[in-house]
Order: sequence, then C-alpha cells, then structure tokens
Amino acid sequence: SVETTFELVDQQFISSIIKLRKAFSHKGNFGHALIIAGSYGKMGAAVLSTKACLQSGAGLVTAHVPAKGVEIMQISAPEAMCRIDTQSEIISNIDYDLKPYTSIGIGPGIGKEKMTTSFLYQLLKDYQKPMVIDADALNILSENPDWLSLLPPGSILTPHPKEYARLFGNDMNDLEKINTALQKAHDLKIIIILKGHHTFIATPDGKGYFNTTGNAGMAKGGSGDVLTGIITGILAQGYKPNEAAILGVYMHGAAGDNAAAKYGMISMTATDLIEALKTPDLLTK
Ligand code: APR
Ligand code: MG
Repeated sequence: SVETTFELVDQQFISSIIKLRKAFSHKGNFGHALIIAGSYGKMGAAVLSTKACLQSGAGLVTAHVPAKGVEIMQISAPEAMCRIDTQSEIISNIDYDLKPYTSIGIGPGIGKEKMTTSFLYQLLKDYQKPMVIDADALNILSENPDWLSLLPPGSILTPHPKEYARLFGNDMNDLEKINTALQKAHDLKIIIILKGHHTFIATPDGKGYFNTTGNAGMAKGGSGDVLTGIITGILAQGYKPNEAAILGVYMHGAAGDNAAAKYGMISMTATDLIEALKTPDLLTK
C-alpha cells in the first residue's frame, strides 16, 4: 500500500504555491488552454467551463465545440477562440495539431455517443501530456475501464460521488473511498479529486489534501463545469498537475464563498462562481 500524509489546503498552503504575475509578462507566458466540451442541448456546460477557464489566468483559451454550438460559445465567451467539430451536435474528432495547447480539459456536456467515445479513445492513445478529465469523459472511462491505463501521467480526474462510484466501485465508506483514491492515484500516476464538501485530492506521490473552502450553495448544476475550466486554465500556465489540482479546488471554493457572501447560498449559481473569481484578494486574503 501507499505511504500517506495528509494536508489541509488553506490560505497559507496556497501562498506557498501561487506564482505572481511578473510585470514584463505577456500572454505567451500563461499558456493556451483547450476546453473540449458540449453537445446539442448541453452547451451550457461548455460555456461555463470555458468562461471559468478565461477567469483562471490562462493567456489564451480555445473551446472545441460541436458545429451547432459555435455561435453560442462565441457570443457567451468572446475572449475564447473556437475550434469547430465536423459533427453538428456532438464532439467526434480533432483534425488539427494539439502542440500549441499547453493543457486540455475534456468532458463537460459531451455525452456518450459512439463517435464521442471513440474520439476519447483516440485522444488518450495520441496525447501524452496531462489532461483534466471530467463528467461524461469520466463516464466513458467507467464504461471502458481498460482505458484508465492510457491516461497521460499527471492527468487530473474530477469525479463527483456518483462518477467516482461508477469509476472505482460502490459500497465504500468515506475512508475506503479516500484509500482507494490514493491507491489508484499512485498506481495510475494520476490525480483524483473527490468532489463534495471538503473536497479531497489524492496525488500520485501518496499525499492527500483536504480543501477548506466552498459551501453548500455550490451544490447546483454547473458548479463542477466551472471547476474543470479553472483547473485546465491553471494547468495551462505551467503549474505542476498536483499544484493545478490543489490551487483550482481552493480557488473554486473561495469563489463559492464569495458568491455566498454576496448572493446567499440559496440563490447563487455557477455563473456567480465565475463572476466571484474576479476578486482581487481571492488567493491572498
Ligand atoms: N460544499 C462544498 N462544495 C460543494 C458542495 C458542498 N456542500 N456541493 C457541491 N460542491 C461542489 C463540489 O465540490 C464540486 O466542485 O460543487 C461542485 C459540483 O460538481 P458536480 O457534482 O460535477 O456538478 P455539476 O456541475 O452539476 O455537474 C454537471 O456534469 O458531472 C456531470 O452528471 C453531472 O450532469 C452533471 C454535470
Ligand atoms: Mg460535473
């Protein structure tokens, strides 16, 4: 089994990993994130993750979306560029060079159509750099568990409790879930984020981190899509995958706490989380 240490992710911890923006920096210093998301009727997931990614400090953001989703994306997120899938309603292939992108986030709203499933398989076979894997990309993986071994080292999985159960099994108490996540993170050389209250992050080196930010106002559709965008954007900037996962989870929860203070836990939405990222002292207070 894995030698484990646990840590709390609080402001002090975050200040030890955060990189400040240098005065003479330009957008090329902050990477280019690619968000692969959306399908007909689920473009909201793609928009939320792309907008969150834009708010995370990344230099450039591109959204790869089904053809029918392009207008929605360009109007909702004018700062993002679009790559247009050959399929109108789903994601089915990438026919361009992925080298310019410094991170990839995939999953929000993509569905599980056959073509999308085989596209994910191809991406896992071809792509070697860490990726952020969420939502339906996780569900596709749980239907094809052999593909877990294809995940590039340092990839970050962001399952909510049901996605986690589909991936790694049911009938576990919280301690068993944590131990299984640590074991899988170690064996597969990936990072596993168990989302919920006090989100847990398991890293390949056997360390476990408990987040201290966030609240029940975030228990709403779209909150997870925002997290995917944030982590993908942080990863794009050159943070190590462990750091991107930890920083992203903390930032997402801190935005949630700001949104709750402003709008209340009942009424706040995922869009408010994105808005609440725009807080000068979010990571430094
Ligand atoms: N306290 C703190 N944080 C919370 C709480 C809570 N009580 N409840 C939820 N959150 C946070 C989680 O930690 C996570 O980061 O909100 C986020 C919720 O993420 P998801 O469960 O993935 O939610 P969602 O955005 O609705 O997902 C959209 O994608 O995963 C699929 O099937 C899912 O259709 C859904 C879609
Ligand atoms: Mg989700």
